[in-house]
Amino acid sequence: MSLLAQVDSVKAEALVALGDAADLPALEQAKGSFLGAEGRFTALLKQLGGLPREDRPAAGKSINAAKAEIEAALAARRADLELRASVPRDPADFTLPGRRRPSGRLHPLTQVTDDIVRAFRRLGFAVADGPEIEDERHCFDALNTPADHPARDAQDTFFLDLPSRPLLRTHTSSVQIRVMEKQAPPIRIVVPGRVFRRDNADATHNPTFHQIEGLYIDRGVTLGDLKGTVEAVFRELLGDDVKLRFRPHYFSYTEPSLEIDFTNSLVRKLGKEWLEIAGCGMVHPKVFENVGYDPEVWSGWAFGFGIERIAMLRYGITDIRLFYENDTRFLAQF
Ligand code: DAH
Repeated sequence: MSLLAQVDSVKAEALVALGDAADLPALEQAKGSFLGAEGRFTALLKQLGGLPREDRPAAGKSINAAKAEIEAALAARRADLELRASVPRDPADFTLPGRRRPSGRLHPLTQVTDDIVRAFRRLGFAVADGPEIEDERHCFDALNTPADHPARDAQDTFFLDLPSRPLLRTHTSSVQIRVMEKQAPPIRIVVPGRVFRRDNADATHNPTFHQIEGLYIDRGVTLGDLKGTVEAVFRELLGDDVKLRFRPHYFSYTEPSLEIDFTNSLVRKLGKEWLEIAGCGMVHPKVFENVGYDPEVWSGWAFGFGIERIAMLRYGITDIRLFYENDTRFLAQF
């Protein structure tokens, strides 16, 4: 075979070998076996000197052209393999939601609510929800609040100017009724939510604030369960030096009804002995009847407390309005 024919056939083999190299090390090996000092193409170059003098220029030209072709194929294949090596083995899933976190933080009331809910969840309570625009039945009647009760006065409740007299719920207790209407006992829920009252804003009042309602219904539930539960949660939220006091009170939907007073070192530092923190009691048999539960079979307790109150105690805040002003200098501290 003439030298030029050999050049052609070795070049063809080289191009195939380079194209077949599966990764960069294999490519370098293929390169070496053709263009290296001991390579097959290099060996042909060495034979150039053995050709008759007049044949050398043409043969040299062809060999150089073939070598350039091999080198170009090598560079192209190398670029290709380098690109492939740079692509991650497990490519990103571009359908996943973004990982970037917004640079804000949760509002202090949201943080406190989350903590309260977490504490109750640990005790087996589920979270329930209900509408902020309510009707009189869920907010009052079914809770055994008589039509002439002062809380129903237009002075305290925001009514919407519509024939069906919808109102903004004055407490989360309305959700007790909504849940019991839909669900058979036993029930163990907490209901965080926003409530509305026609109060003028001052350091401790605002026309809208937040409550968390609790409802526990089963056979043989006692007031002792209520005390133990509430005490455990408050200790978890506000520290071990928490003391609670249960005082007789009146709510139309519980009998007996109690108010819970709270104290700890912070309350005493504020110059007070006790702070009212919640209402509670054993669910009134009339309420059970209103939702179709048999009061002879089922017993239960309920409570409602203000979330702002707890947040103020936790953080030592003395003006409730700070929570609603959205001043970032205030919010950034939590
Ligand atoms: N609804 C009452 C309030 O807004 C709080 C309350 C008292 C809730 C007693 C209850 C309860 O569930 O049993 O002041």
